[in-house]
Amino acid sequence: MIDHTIKEYIEKIDLTQPIPTEEPMRQYYFLKKAKEIVKKESERLGRPLFSHTNTFGCQMNARDSEKLSGILREVGYMETDSEEADFVIYNTCTVRENANLRVYGRLGVLHGYKKKNPHMKIALCGCMMQEPTVVEKLQKSYRFVDLIFGTHNIFKFAELLVTTLESNRMVIDIWKDTNQIVEDLPIERKYPFKSGVNIMFGCNNFCSYCIVPYVRGRERSREPRDIIREIEGLVADGVVEIMLLGQNVNSYGKNLDNPMTFAELLEEIEKIEGLERIRFMTSHPKDLSDELIQVMAKSTKICRHLHLPLQSGSTSLLKVMNRKYTKEQYLALADKIRTAIPDIALTTDIIVGFPGETEEDFLETLDVVRKVRYDSAFTFIYSKRTGTPAAAMENQIPEEIVKNRFDRLLKEVQDISKEMAERFTGTTQTVLVEELNGQMKDYVTGRLSNNHVVHFPGDASLLGKLVTVHLDECRGFYYIGSKIGE
Ligand code: SAH
Ligand code: SF4
Ligand code: F3S
Repeated sequence: MIDHTIKEYIEKIDLTQPIPTEEPMRQYYFLKKAKEIVKKESERLGRPLFSHTNTFGCQMNARDSEKLSGILREVGYMETDSEEADFVIYNTCTVRENANLRVYGRLGVLHGYKKKNPHMKIALCGCMMQEPTVVEKLQKSYRFVDLIFGTHNIFKFAELLVTTLESNRMVIDIWKDTNQIVEDLPIERKYPFKSGVNIMFGCNNFCSYCIVPYVRGRERSREPRDIIREIEGLVADGVVEIMLLGQNVNSYGKNLDNPMTFAELLEEIEKIEGLERIRFMTSHPKDLSDELIQVMAKSTKICRHLHLPLQSGSTSLLKVMNRKYTKEQYLALADKIRTAIPDIALTTDIIVGFPGETEEDFLETLDVVRKVRYDSAFTFIYSKRTGTPAAAMENQIPEEIVKNRFDRLLKEVQDISKEMAERFTGTTQTVLVEELNGQMKDYVTGRLSNNHVVHFPGDASLLGKLVTVHLDECRGFYYIGSKIGE
């Protein structure tokens, strides 16, 4: 998708004129320039040029990748599922060590492809690139990489693309931080009917285990009018569900010239006609307001789902983690939410094996899991991230102990999720149909407002539609249903 006003603007650009200094005009100039380079190369080869975007990490990275793909599409590349392409870009994550290891592993494979196609360009961007040690390693041992940039200058991708296509050296451009938010660049959406929408960037919380604040920079909120305008555009383009994205949406709006709360923003978004469903991610428990709970309770569009990361159930560990809430405060909050919105699904993130975690601390976590009864939970083994306060802490926990706790936690979480899912069996729910079922022929798959998954008989004509479905049977983590109406 590209707004035609942007398209028209780009068409009118005269490349013989000086390069604009203002954004986004500067990037439009480079979009046009890249378009010419790609066209020439494609004529020379007598075939289209192909690109591939691979995303690691969270929803925010997924949304950023849609921006990368939007630019690649606009300049003339055809997106392919294969990594044997002319331009391959990895949008990386560094939240846990595994994410980094996967990237290094894949780079070996890409190198093989590049030997077969010397014109291939390999680009790396995203959170991992914000770590100086990573870039040093790439410069030393991965010389075949053509372009490296970070999270703060992703808006400059068109410009960096031109530099890369015109040069034979490794192009590196990493910014330490930024306060800039550049609007109105092309975006290629993965789904026609749902979309992520950034409402803020960065994080100021500095949880002691977490690298995100170091690689995503300080918190900055988008102007409400820009957010609303984007959503209105998406709705006009067929989107019915949006997911508002931020590392901590509950602190939205604090740094705006005219401060506004997240709850107030939601009320504005609710008014957008044609928009059916609103989701958001992620809520930090420390500043989830009563105002937000009230707005959710009376809303007809905000989905019945709240992701409320716990991390640990031990008050003393939460303190060392710098989470700024106690076990009791968290439990009271979960209770308050369930009382105000009884059919809500609560999900969470939990870390096992944080430095100094004792068996007692771990039992506190299990206790919260049993009391809150999550609909689902992401469980993570603590991963040491260089540069974070926790990495320097003594008492790192031995692997066998962590593994044992992780398995016990996972079992508890899964048993509870199954029991929780049962409570909706036999009810009738509205479902947004998202895809054709990969396993069951003539079935489609969709999501309930509370984010639970349901499979039911249907065909491609239902994709992107909101339909009424009876949940016939619960099979652990999903339902089998039957369609009642549209
Ligand atoms: N901003 C979100 C989380 C983003 S990271 C929030 O505060 O909820 C997603 C999840 O990754 C976190 O909730 C945490 O559970 C996990 N995580 C972050 N750093 C980690 C680390 N060093 N080791 C293991 N898990 C980690
Ligand atoms: Fe990381 Fe904490 Fe920020 Fe979430 S709130 S991104 S866990 S520092
Ligand atoms: Fe990973 Fe960056 Fe998201 S580190 S979890 S991709 S913000």
